[in-house]
Amino acid sequence: MNTPIRFIHISDTHFGPDKDFVQRSVNSYNAFSSFLKEVKHLPFKPDFIIHTGDVTADCFEEGYKLIASVIEDLKIPMYFATGNHDTSALIKKYLPMTGAEVVSSQLNSYRFSVGDHRFFTIDGRGSDEIDPHGVISEEQMELLKKELKTGKQITLFIHYPALGLDSTWFDKNMLLTNGEEFHQVLVAHKDQICGVFFGHIHRSSQTLQDGILYASAGSIAGQFILLPDQKEPLFEPAGQGFFNIVTLTDSSLIIKEYSFNH
Ligand SMILES: [Fe+2]
Ligand SMILES: [Fe+2]
Repeated sequence: MNTPIRFIHISDTHFGPDKDFVQRSVNSYNAFSSFLKEVKHLPFKPDFIIHTGDVTADCFEEGYKLIASVIEDLKIPMYFATGNHDTSALIKKYLPMTGAEVVSSQLNSYRFSVGDHRFFTIDGRGSDEIDPHGVISEEQMELLKKELKTGKQITLFIHYPALGLDSTWFDKNMLLTNGEEFHQVLVAHKDQICGVFFGHIHRSSQTLQDGILYASAGSIAGQFILLPDQKEPLFEPAGQGFFNIVTLTDSSLIIKEYSFNH
């Protein structure tokens, strides 16, 4: 790629069924509207926006319709991964995925490209019994392996962290149940993989392990605190949302975090 690719990574909008929905003192609709205002004022046009899941706060069908109506006029392609508070079928039904090639009828897994560079979303939503853990199903693992066999440079999107984050409650409750197996699949193709972008933890983080870079974005709505030895989920005071601007070049990956007031 000669021209840099620039995309915006957002996560965890937690839309409710209507514009008045509030979760932990944050109006999700207003928070997302503030984000869109920020995007419109950026001095460049991103190639796309990726949302790494928890589009809604509790699989609200009306929530998907609401976000679809808000982004209707957005002149930037937007893509969505499935979170634990999402239903893949509803994401596929209501949200546009411009130019994406869907690879599964059940899972919300697809590829899209910018120039020669390939992007691939992974559906890590497991059964409600394992929530808030995620899991890479057998079908999804096979689709991923098939994708990696192309030998192309690739960037991956998934809702869940694969590996521990040095924070007790999160490491016990929020990871992929087969994150280590997933990681080893990636390690075997590490020269192809630019990065794995995720959400779920409502906090920006970067982990580099065995040559694989994992990076999360803060939430558009409300932020978690993640400290070592933390035994329960803790929340930041309401009022700020976060997103990352990611730049991919032939030789580098640059991630810059931005905050905005709700
Ligand atoms: Fe979330
Ligand atoms: Fe989540």
